[in-house]
Amino acid sequence: MKKIAIFASGFGSNFQALIEAIEKDKLHAAIVLLVSDKEGCYAIERAAQNNIDTFVFNAKNYPNKEAYEMAIATILKQKQVDLIVLAGYMRIIGKVLLDQFEGKIINIHPSLLPAFPGLHAIEQAYQYGVKIFGITIHYVEEDMDTGKIIAQDCFKISENEDIDTIEAQIHQLEHHLYPKVVEMLLKK
Ligand code: GAR
Repeated sequence: MKKIAIFASGFGSNFQALIEAIEKDKLHAAIVLLVSDKEGCYAIERAAQNNIDTFVFNAKNYPNKEAYEMAIATILKQKQVDLIVLAGYMRIIGKVLLDQFEGKIINIHPSLLPAFPGLHAIEQAYQYGVKIFGITIHYVEEDMDTGKIIAQDCFKISENEDIDTIEAQIHQLEHHLYPKVVEMLLKK
């Protein structure tokens, strides 16, 4: 059984989608670790509910990014993780993790990259007047929201569609596509 680690900083709905895909036998993997940089975030609660081990850290307690990434890398190696799945992890992955897990880190982003990288991508696209919204799953490279694209999906919005409905549709797409892509990568 392939082993995956999820990195999340927030609500963790994509984490939940991966858990449910495993339960439904659509994703053949074990989630062996949740890594989070945000004490008290709901993703940690989801890990507890599903008996998934966690590594929760506060970046301020480490001298630099290298130090906390070394700590993360040590646990990932101990747990023999095959794939690192970023799911709303709001930190840039640094050299330590990129070097040790080359080609094994993926991210999901709520826009059709390379358009609208960074924070508040849906809002950015909405303000810009975008008519086709979408999501991107990509390999992680040293910059934010860059790296070779693995999969995308999109939908056309109707006249006067509000941002909440668009956001809900984005999340629906994410929850559907992310488990499928993880399964596809693990089968390779
Ligand atoms: C998701 O929409 C994901 O695409 C986005 O954060 C959200 C996390 O939601 N990621 C980024 O913006 C990465 N730059 P979740 O915590 O409910 O899974």
